Amino acid sequence: MEIPNIMESMGSLRRTHSCNDLTAADIGKEIILMGWVLRRRDHGGVIFIDLRDRHGLTQVVFNPEVNPEVHEKAHRLRSEWVIAIRGKVDARLEGMANKKLDTGEIEVFVDELRILNTSETPPFPLDEESEVSDNIRLQYRYMDLRRPEMAAKLYQRHKAVQSMRSYLNDNEFLEVETPMLTRSTPEGARDYLVPSRVNAGKFYALPQSPQLFKQLLMIGGIDRYYQIVKCFRDEDLRADRQPEFTQIDMELSFVNEEQIIAITEGMIAKLFKDTLNLDVAPPFNRISYDDAMNRFGTDRPDTRFGFELVDLSDIARNCSFKVFRSIADGDGTVRAINAKGCATFSRKELDRLTEYAALFGAKGLAWVKMKADGEWQSPIAKFFSDEERAAMTTALEAEEGDLLLFGADKESVVLSVLGELRVEIARRLELLDRKIFNFVWVTDFPLVEYDENKKRFQALHHPFTAPKEEDLDKLESDPAAVYSRAYDLVLNGTEIGGGSIRIHQRDVQARVLKALDISEEEANDKFGFLLRALELGAPPHGGLAFGLDRLLMIITGSDSIRDVIAFPKTQRATCPLTEAPAGVARKQLTELYLRPDWKEDKGA
Ligand code: AMO
Ligand code: AMP
Repeated sequence: MEIPNIMESMGSLRRTHSCNDLTAADIGKEIILMGWVLRRRDHGGVIFIDLRDRHGLTQVVFNPEVNPEVHEKAHRLRSEWVIAIRGKVDARLEGMANKKLDTGEIEVFVDELRILNTSETPPFPLDEESEVSDNIRLQYRYMDLRRPEMAAKLYQRHKAVQSMRSYLNDNEFLEVETPMLTRSTPEGARDYLVPSRVNAGKFYALPQSPQLFKQLLMIGGIDRYYQIVKCFRDEDLRADRQPEFTQIDMELSFVNEEQIIAITEGMIAKLFKDTLNLDVAPPFNRISYDDAMNRFGTDRPDTRFGFELVDLSDIARNCSFKVFRSIADGDGTVRAINAKGCATFSRKELDRLTEYAALFGAKGLAWVKMKADGEWQSPIAKFFSDEERAAMTTALEAEEGDLLLFGADKESVVLSVLGELRVEIARRLELLDRKIFNFVWVTDFPLVEYDENKKRFQALHHPFTAPKEEDLDKLESDPAAVYSRAYDLVLNGTEIGGGSIRIHQRDVQARVLKALDISEEEANDKFGFLLRALELGAPPHGGLAFGLDRLLMIITGSDSIRDVIAFPKTQRATCPLTEAPAGVARKQLTELYLRPDWKEDKGA
């Protein structure tokens, strides 16, 4: 579209109100509004414009009889043009009020119109719930942000940050910034690296978290620290994971886990009050890691619904279903969930659940539909004696109309399969109510877990997490039996935060590193500075970090953390708007001592 140059300046006009301010109390006032044309409607010669800014909408009216010149100009207006208007507030006609708008009782009759900028046809309509691909939304993110829904989300994020900041300030926390160009922080993901120009062949790592620096701050005597901080992790992306994300990061000295939990519960309670006007009433429930795994199959339990896992290995040990018997008798486990009232699932739905279970490694998905009088309708019914069926029915508290789903395999597979299935079934039954907020602290984590691929123990959190004192003597003999002083806060099945009491004694740190198979040499090379600091009067300390984006995703009822980040990245860690990451000039590469010929290298 050829747009004639009809743009004007604001001149002496200055905004007097936002597009969400005017009410019946303003009737008769002369006001000035600026914003975007959402839509233009022509009604019997009178032109109505919905004028929009991030605050809301105001209806403005151009009447040919009152002001023909301005009316003529208004004919040109198109969606997303930027205008300034001067006019008078008037009551809407009897019966024309719009209760859904804060400004719904009034309209503004325009005396002066200035076109501040024109716009080509928008790449997608902004005024309706239209299906726009995520990629287009991200490519034109600035257009997307004009939608009231997105503006509201950014506003909630702003409120959330203000709320937590003020809480932490009131509680004597000091806000301190830590470096972005630093060394690798072991949080379990890959690092984003930044080559150094002045130090040939050397690299900075962007922080996966400020973990080491916040511990150094405690050693530096800053006994309460917080930071609202970007963290960078090169890992597989999901709806709740971005390569750069924001933590509300905290650390405290001279405290135990109870004090940290109480302080952070206060912060979360204030956050939900300030953003949603909701009382979430701490103290929150707690569950041990072992119980969470056994009952929910995951350390991120969604407790908004039941379908808990039940261990049937003892009953299955003698049954005549060979698969179950050999697994229960060997080193595997047989467990089941009771999907209450789901006996109505069709064959097709059961097949789909089986396919879903296979994604998590299930080799099959045995099912039972509960009939009257405890009778089983099931392909595996025949393999069990009356007693075995009755015992399982009782263990699962199964009643007529229920659907029982079984997993048999090694424990890790069964837990993950049934843990995922219970959430998937709840999703299908629409039990994932976004208006319910179930917090649960997961505590008593094992200190380490065995990595089958690497054939070594790994820290479940990070290597600086303190072991429970009563388990210290098992560090060398049986590391897998050592529990840690870590805690995670889970909300509706999403891990929103995690932390621990740290090791503050040099010798304990050395023993833990040894248990993790990290040599003195490697430890010294990677974080010798922290080990040294532990030798110079480190106070007992601990802390925690919340994922700000995940909190906001849940608070705003969004499906993805992308919706609460102004400029997020795609699943492939790209930015469609700026087209980052991008190639760089050969000269830049050589300056950074990087080989510009990697392509040929790869081919060879
Ligand atoms: P952790 O690795 O558990 O702990 O991270 C803390 C919280 O950050 C959020 N989070 C993420 N959010 C979005 N995208 C990601 N890729 C991502 N990764 C993590 C989660 C998580 O609970 N230094 C420790 C904290 C401590 O011990 O004090 C740490 O970083 O909500
Ligand atoms: P089959 O005798 O192999 O046809 O299996 C009978 C039923 O048991 C089918 O519904 C399978 O999906 C299920 N099944 C087979 N192996 C397993 C397993 N490891 N865990 C759970 N169910 C299984």
